[in-house]
Amino acid sequence: MGCMNPLRYAVIGNPIAHSLSPLIHEMFSRQTGIALAYERLKAPLSDDGTLFREKVMQFFAEGGKGLNVTAPFKSFALSFSACAAENAFQAGAANTLTPLSGGWRADNTDGIGFIRDLYRQWGRSAEKARILIFGAGGAVAGILGELLAQKPTEICLCNRTEDKALALKRRFPDSGEKITILSLPQLLLREPFDLIVNGIGVRAIDQGGIPWQIPAVSDNTFFYDMVYSSAETPFVAWARTQGMRHACDGLGMLIEQAAESFRIWHGVLPETAELHMSTFIELLRAPTNKEK
Ligand SMILES: NC(=O)c1ccc[n+]([C@@H]2O[C@H](COP(=O)([O-])OP(=O)(O)OC[C@H]3O[C@@H](n4cnc5c(N)ncnc54)[C@H](OP(=O)(O)O)[C@@H]3O)[C@@H](O)[C@H]2O)c1
Repeated sequence: MGCMNPLRYAVIGNPIAHSLSPLIHEMFSRQTGIALAYERLKAPLSDDGTLFREKVMQFFAEGGKGLNVTAPFKSFALSFSACAAENAFQAGAANTLTPLSGGWRADNTDGIGFIRDLYRQWGRSAEKARILIFGAGGAVAGILGELLAQKPTEICLCNRTEDKALALKRRFPDSGEKITILSLPQLLLREPFDLIVNGIGVRAIDQGGIPWQIPAVSDNTFFYDMVYSSAETPFVAWARTQGMRHACDGLGMLIEQAAESFRIWHGVLPETAELHMSTFIELLRAPTNKEK
């Protein structure tokens, strides 16, 4: 038994040194008794993604059993896949790859991870909710399908580049009428939202791209930042300075999307409650562990 190699998994991205995924999957491994090795893999950058593809194929050829994918490769992870789940098609991106003969299957677990954590933190589903989302990048694309499935009253997208928000809306022709594209001035005319989600990363915010002059909030508005960091994120900090008590960052989503990847690979959904407890969260928030 002792000489058996454990199953090999990894998270692939560039940069990758700061990824928290190995810590999370090691916890799941310990909890479920499924022995595995989970590493960080850096893929070279190339405009057409071929170097990423080669790195993935090499990992699977060497016996790798699954890959999580992070920035900037999530759309290549879908476009080079042999087959893909509906959630990856809708998002135009994948974060979970499983080897198949001659290629891989692509899944996107960000949406499920977001919905599970949102329910845990907010204590309700998004049914009949009025929702505002900042950003229209990969993270927002990943959650939109799952959010629409909960039958909210409306989802407003507010993005620096309006065309990108429009292109994202077009990906959901069946529910498109629920999605409204709003500019910042148009936000001023809106009634308070039940939920405000941020999908704009810290670096963009450091560049001065903060659009958060949001009058459309009430005491009950819930603020969910998909971004996470060792310190309080700018969006959560902003919500708190406005006196908003209900705000959280995206660390819980990170844990939940990892759990869903684990389920896809191992057929077992790990129990995440112990990971959301303070000792593990403090470990994830250690200053050496920055954004994924
Ligand atoms: N918690 C989790 O599990 C999880 C999962 C996935 C992602 N995330 C986080 O979500 C964040 C976004 O990731 P992503 O993959 O969606 O990135 P992305 O695809 O690059 O999208 C970035 C978004 O930020 C906007 N933006 C960039 N610079 C800006 C500026 N200066 N002013 C205003 N807006 C600006 C972009 O607007 P334009 O369209 O105008 O460029 C776009 O909407 C990251 O911090 C990532 O770590 C977390």
